Amino acid sequence: MTVPDPDGIDVLFTAEQIAARVEELAGEIVAHIDGDLLVVVILKGSFVFAADLIRALDRKGAPARVDFITLSSYHEGTESSGRVDLAHDLSEDVKGQDVLIVDDILESGRTLDFACSTIADRGAASVRTCLLLDKPARRKVAIEADFVGFSIAPEFVVGYGLDLAHRYRGLPFIGLVREPTG
Ligand code: IMP
Ligand code: MG
Repeated sequence: MTVPDPDGIDVLFTAEQIAARVEELAGEIVAHIDGDLLVVVILKGSFVFAADLIRALDRKGAPARVDFITLSSYHEGTESSGRVDLAHDLSEDVKGQDVLIVDDILESGRTLDFACSTIADRGAASVRTCLLLDKPARRKVAIEADFVGFSIAPEFVVGYGLDLAHRYRGLPFIGLVREPTG
């Protein structure tokens, strides 16, 4: 008999798989972008990914400056509200900068679209995007990321910084929340 995980989370990507992919992503970024990067981290969900990615970039000889912006489109549940709120703005001026936006998940595309247009409107020299996860089946806005860690089915995932109503961000793996069975 298998012992059910008390939190009902099925592992989708292990910590080892994530670490290997982050290292590859950093290699792809370094191969395609030269010059000094300003990494713009979209909080909260991507803080763990960004922390690993900027250290991987450093190992590849591409140390990046980092700034943070807090955007939210989810309110406690697993469905996007359809509206993006800017809860906390950048502290750096992005004018003339080569920006790499780092976010956790590309779903409807609204969050990334909002971030890209905000940063482009402020006069960034270039805007590139790196997403840990992509759910292409859920897209509502025509936008694609330049660099993607893993493409996944349209299921709700948690862990490695991703939350469900503020839970699970500290899990070392990415997992699926099992639907409660009656
Ligand atoms: P979008 O604006 O619909 O593309 O949603 C992207 C944002 O929704 C991401 O930055 C995440 O914060 C959040 N999100 C989307 N899917 C998930 C998920 O499966 N788990 C946790 N957060 C998610
Ligand atoms: Mg987010």
